[in-house]
Amino acid sequence: MGAAVADNTAAPFVDFQDVWLAYNEELRRANHFAVEAIDLKVRQGEFIAIVGPSGCGKSTFMKLTTGLKMPSMGRIMIDGQPVTGPLKISGMAFQAPSLLPWRTTVDNVLLPLEIVEPYRSSFKRKRKEYEERARRLLQKVGLGGYEDKFPWQLSGGMQQRASICRALIHEPKMLLLDEPFGALDAFTREELWCILRDLWTEQRFNVILVTHDLRESVFLADTVYVMSKSPGRFVVRRDIELPRPRELELTYTKEFSDIVHELRGHIGAIRSGGATSTAPVIPQ
Ligand SMILES: Nc1ncnc2c1ncn2[C@@H]1O[C@H](COP(=O)(O)OP(=O)(O)OP(=O)(O)O)[C@@H](O)[C@H]1O
Ligand SMILES: [Mg+2]
Repeated sequence: MGAAVADNTAAPFVDFQDVWLAYNEELRRANHFAVEAIDLKVRQGEFIAIVGPSGCGKSTFMKLTTGLKMPSMGRIMIDGQPVTGPLKISGMAFQAPSLLPWRTTVDNVLLPLEIVEPYRSSFKRKRKEYEERARRLLQKVGLGGYEDKFPWQLSGGMQQRASICRALIHEPKMLLLDEPFGALDAFTREELWCILRDLWTEQRFNVILVTHDLRESVFLADTVYVMSKSPGRFVVRRDIELPRPRELELTYTKEFSDIVHELRGHIGAIRSGGATSTAPVIPQ
């Protein structure tokens, strides 16, 4: 576990300490938690993936991480600060690209800068500079030439690339992706894996990726967490020690598919209510 060595010296970037969340008071009184006993420590710059059955609490975990929901119990620290409300240091992208149809691609990407400080107050003055930045980012993900098109003129994969640019334009320290590639065909999905890999390699923001695709999680992440059925708990932590940089050929090796099979086994056990789900693994 080469990368884990760094854990001992640096404070974790994301630190969940025994976090529980019930969606409302009534559910809480009935002891009905959407996620429970979450202990998680993520290193600065680490790429983690979360997999688990539908409804297990993955999106809930994301809401907690961005401060959209406060825990019922426990504590969350991000970048050394307790989370007390919606976080500005993160960018998000979801399964549906959700670009605004009346704005061009570049104007969609610029949107966070119009909303988030410190950019907001200088937006009018620095618009040219910000627009250059947005255009550079779009170039980087292969959308050169599409900057001034409208979302409906782009394919699904292109729209998703633009959403990732929008999530990254304010240079967040953390990128949260909730099934961002779920709606795409296999080839486009793999293309976007590589784009995300390259952006992450270059900028080393923290990534939390929620996915149903185990191959995706193993290809991209440093660490994969498996969540159990509702109430959601992290029951397995798997370090992915495959060397980087990782190329798509890696996904055809035995080494790679062995890890995917291992994870598939854990998910299968959880879905059938088997042994794995009863033995929570507290990450170190
Ligand atoms: N706003 C809400 N109010 C009450 N319960 C909620 C709310 N949102 C989610 N839940 C419940 O919390 C649990 C976890 O939901 P969550 O959306 O986090 O699951 P998920 O793992 O993201 O599922 P999927 O893979 O289908 O996206 C579910 O039982 C769900 O019904
Ligand atoms: Mg979800």
